[in-house]
Amino acid sequence: MKKILTVLSLCALSFTIQAQLSKTSEMDAFITDLMSKMTLEEKIGQMNLPSDGDIITGLAENSNIAEKIKLGQVGGMFNIKGVEKIKEIQRIAVEESRMKIPLLFGMDVIHGYETVFPIPLGIACTWDMEAIEESARIAAVEASADGICWTFSPMVDISRDPRWGRVSEGNGEDPYLGGQIAKAMVRGYQGKDNSYSSNTNILSCVKHFALYGASEGGRDYNTVDMSRVRMYNEYFYPYQAAVNAGAGSVMASFNVIDGVPAHGNKWLLTDVLRNQWNFKGFTVADYGGIGEMVVHGLGDMQTVSALALNAGLDMDMVSEGYLNTLQKSLAEGKVTEAQIDQACRYILEAKYKLGLFSDPYKYCDVNRAKKDIYTAEHRAIARKTAAESFVLLKNEGNILPISEKQTIAVVGPLANTRSNMPGTWSVAANLSTPATVVEGLKSVAGNNANILYAKGSNLTSDPVLEENSTVFGRSLDRDARTEEELRAEALKIAAQADVIVAAMGETSEMSGESSSRVNLDIPDTQKALLKELLKTGKPVVLVLFTGRPLTLTWEDENIPAILNVWFGGSEAAYAIADVLFGKVNPCGKLAATFPRHVGQIPIYYNHLLTGRPASDNGFEKYRSNYLDEKNAPLYPFGYGLSYTQFTYSDVKLSASTLATNGQITASVTVTNNGAYAGKEVVQLYIRDMVGSISRPVKELKGFEKISLQPGESKTVQFTITPEMLKFYNYDLQYVFEPGDFEVMIGGNSRDVQSAQFTLK
Ligand code: BGC
Repeated sequence: MKKILTVLSLCALSFTIQAQLSKTSEMDAFITDLMSKMTLEEKIGQMNLPSDGDIITGLAENSNIAEKIKLGQVGGMFNIKGVEKIKEIQRIAVEESRMKIPLLFGMDVIHGYETVFPIPLGIACTWDMEAIEESARIAAVEASADGICWTFSPMVDISRDPRWGRVSEGNGEDPYLGGQIAKAMVRGYQGKDNSYSSNTNILSCVKHFALYGASEGGRDYNTVDMSRVRMYNEYFYPYQAAVNAGAGSVMASFNVIDGVPAHGNKWLLTDVLRNQWNFKGFTVADYGGIGEMVVHGLGDMQTVSALALNAGLDMDMVSEGYLNTLQKSLAEGKVTEAQIDQACRYILEAKYKLGLFSDPYKYCDVNRAKKDIYTAEHRAIARKTAAESFVLLKNEGNILPISEKQTIAVVGPLANTRSNMPGTWSVAANLSTPATVVEGLKSVAGNNANILYAKGSNLTSDPVLEENSTVFGRSLDRDARTEEELRAEALKIAAQADVIVAAMGETSEMSGESSSRVNLDIPDTQKALLKELLKTGKPVVLVLFTGRPLTLTWEDENIPAILNVWFGGSEAAYAIADVLFGKVNPCGKLAATFPRHVGQIPIYYNHLLTGRPASDNGFEKYRSNYLDEKNAPLYPFGYGLSYTQFTYSDVKLSASTLATNGQITASVTVTNNGAYAGKEVVQLYIRDMVGSISRPVKELKGFEKISLQPGESKTVQFTITPEMLKFYNYDLQYVFEPGDFEVMIGGNSRDVQSAQFTLK
């Protein structure tokens, strides 16, 4: 019986492979035929992704871009919202251009469309791959209902520097967690089999390739310089995971790698991406990235455009360097026709796979736009996911959850804002619909609740920070009253309250692109208000809005309860109320380390040891701690509290040796010792004790999110295989090395139980 089943499944497999091959050869034949009819200019036109220019403001038909589309000089457009508009632009392409090739329509749908999910750094803290996949699927359903077939997501740049504003757009500091998230997002956008069989599946774009999160000093767009050992072991994995999951496109990053900008880096785009990772989709520039190589000092527009094509960059976003110079470069022998053909082919293949040649209006179903966007069902899921992304950093004396029956004073500049709830890069969000924190609390607490509100402070007294934090219509509307007047009003309502909820932190535009900071404290006036609120002796709960790890050393010492809510998306306010009132028990775990002080940055859990570790040397002079601060962070990677308490048993290994072709299991029993049902993320870390290169003190290798009722225990088992112990050695070979390993399991990267085994 077993044999028959095996034969049957082999037959099925060979049938699927054959079907795929015949699909591929059909596509090849179609594109070869199409390209045989295209002029050189039309092929280069496919490689051009211009900015929307006048097409979104004026009548599509009369715009400059429309003229280009008619001439076959445009391969796609991006960040245009509205299916009617997109349909009209597509009509120009397929009815008024000679080759009638449909356009791609892209957008930065990075954490939801109109139903907005938490910023990526926040959703990473759910450690829930199904929820993350679902968030991407919902984003794809909504975006595709509005004409979009291509999203510039997932952004998978590892970063260990919270000064860099774009940490908010990525999934934190860990390559393994980032890699799992990258795969989940690609599946969510493209569909599980990457077949785009439905008009709700859209093309994903992994960005920013590569190493953008390692910009020096945390300054955006800055230089990156990194050893290859580090690239391969610590930074490449999430990009590669997304490519392996079938991501249809890859976006180059703005930074240099070994002195050559990624956009013109052949080693990166061809040797690594195409040859080592076998990437089959197309590569696209970041906004103006080809032209920026002129500023990097790599030559004039013609030179850098040829450099990009030679490196393996297929589509030019905005610079129009390809459109304006490639023909000349071809005539001068600086690029070849084969290179242009290849780039054009990759782009046409994406259009073919999406089904645009069979139906250019596949993503322009006007009826879907009316019923599939911002639905009650999507919003309910976003609310649940947001609540699970929040991280409870402190809860002294179990102040949280609070009761709806108490009188609650809600204060702080983030308590009454709508436009700041969705978070950075929520391009399609409707900024006037999200509930404010005050509204969210009232809605969940019900009519009888006594909820008082006062703003209490402006965002900051720093005019530069204030000015920089107000872009895109998301300002906090600076109050004309003085800080003293605002504070006095807040103290007045605090005096009447049983508990104070302080909604404070950053605005949504204080993180994201081009939003780096050197000071990671809560802005001055807000901190001053917190100090006054503490003096009332009433319990204070800090509901912290932030797009990055902040320095909360003072807050941790002084404020009894801190709930980090990131920017939780369009439903954030309800989710905050759900958690504050105990309808949802918080379970988020940090995807990035919180430093004690900016001077500790870069700071991350999976570091190497130095020859003089902090703890065990007696020489004052050679201490490795800072003179004025500890080495340890404030909150470690993986950290997050719950309203209940979990305890961990010792780690049990199924054997103390692992054969190079075998496997062992590591298990631990987790018990819920508190009074609330709760979820816990059980984390597996491994350390390679001796290696041919120095190996990290621990690396995340697995995790499982479990639910436990009060008093309940569960045993969580992880399988450990030699494959999981592999790393890139000095010669960049991916190997495991026999020897001793330490297994660590716990609820965060610091507090772990451990056991040892030997790989033989
Ligand atoms: C960003 C990308 C984004 C692109 C298009 C650039 O400035 O770096 O992440 O996808 O703009 O909007």
